[in-house]
Amino acid sequence: MALDLEFIRAQYPVFSNPETARWAMFENAGGSYVPHQVIDRLHEFFQFTKVQPYGLFQPSIAAGESMDAGYQAIAGLLNCHPDELTLGPSTSMNTYVLAQAIRPTLKPGDEIIVTNQDHEANIGCWRRMEEFGAVLKEWRIDPQTGELSLEDLERLISGNTRLVCFSLCSNIVGTMNDFETICSMAHDAGAIAIGDGVSFAPHRVLDVNASGLDFYLFSTYKTFGTHLGVMWGRPAILDTVEPQGHYFNRDIPNYNFNPAGPLHAQIGALDGLREYIEAVYGHHFDEAQPGFHARAVRVFELFAEHETTQANRILEAVKAIPGSRIIGQDQALTGSRAATISITIDGMSSGDAVKKLVERDIAVRNGDFYALRCLEALGIQDPEDGVVRISLVHYNTEQDVSRLVEALGELA
Ligand SMILES: Cc1ncc(COP(=O)(O)O)c(C=O)c1O
Repeated sequence: MALDLEFIRAQYPVFSNPETARWAMFENAGGSYVPHQVIDRLHEFFQFTKVQPYGLFQPSIAAGESMDAGYQAIAGLLNCHPDELTLGPSTSMNTYVLAQAIRPTLKPGDEIIVTNQDHEANIGCWRRMEEFGAVLKEWRIDPQTGELSLEDLERLISGNTRLVCFSLCSNIVGTMNDFETICSMAHDAGAIAIGDGVSFAPHRVLDVNASGLDFYLFSTYKTFGTHLGVMWGRPAILDTVEPQGHYFNRDIPNYNFNPAGPLHAQIGALDGLREYIEAVYGHHFDEAQPGFHARAVRVFELFAEHETTQANRILEAVKAIPGSRIIGQDQALTGSRAATISITIDGMSSGDAVKKLVERDIAVRNGDFYALRCLEALGIQDPEDGVVRISLVHYNTEQDVSRLVEALGELA
């Protein structure tokens, strides 16, 4: 069973406009395109139900129902209860609020493990806990491979460890970290495991309850949806941390860790993401598969297979460039490396490489992608120029990749 790219691309209005369709889009880790199902829901909300939701008059009832459907869609995707979700403005905001919620439960001397591989969203807010007496320990990457080792984590964890904060997949290195083992190591020490899934979620669906994580976060604007951050929290842990919303809203679960307040239309439109995944399932599979989560898993397996094949073509093309460095694994294996490929080229700035690619209608960017600590640890001399990041998702075609491969060949 192969992914039907023609069907997939027909769901995305961006590919039917010649001006936008000319771009071979490889900046997906910065923000992904959106299928029409999501756009339709957003449009409908703004056209007909753009009022304060959960009132007694019809447009307000419809707005509330639409939002409930958005929560249900994400809960279905992650196989959890909607009450366990916070749909905040972004992952950076959600981690920040979560840190405030956990802070009162920490005492001086409690230890927090953060990595230098993560995006700053899952580092800085935890480092601030030092101001309140927490002891920060840094789980460091190997400066050559960019990868984290479980042996190093073993050495860092102690009976005082309260939090282990890491990414399921780095937005620079692309390696899928062994989150199940990391969670069980954290739990053995009595610590909470907080997993950033922003670079993981566009490629793989997680069953949050089975994952071992206590908190799982990702950004729907990088996962074919509207601009929101999803935070799932394990109920037993959610109950022990300090709500951050208005005191009189404490019996509204989705509001407790969203002091910004819910973004009504954006949440409602997330039901379009469910519709999209269902449409992809219906197009590719005949058999009835009970449960949206299970169907989504099958769909994302199909995505991953396509991405892995195409990622390997890109990796081969990069290897052929003299002086090139691939950050992370130089071969893509499903489940072990995401198709987020960061490279540098000796003798050419990343900015110049990007300019040359953009001239050929290939959308990529360079920089540190807010993972400055990771770039510094990798020994990248000018982190502002940083790496060239090529990130593909399931809607990138073989032809997109051929154009990129040819352009990389010219860089060589
Ligand atoms: C791995 C990772 N974590 C966290 C974030 C922050 O997400 P947001 O922009 O929703 O705050 C990003 C954004 O690029 C990311 O790539």
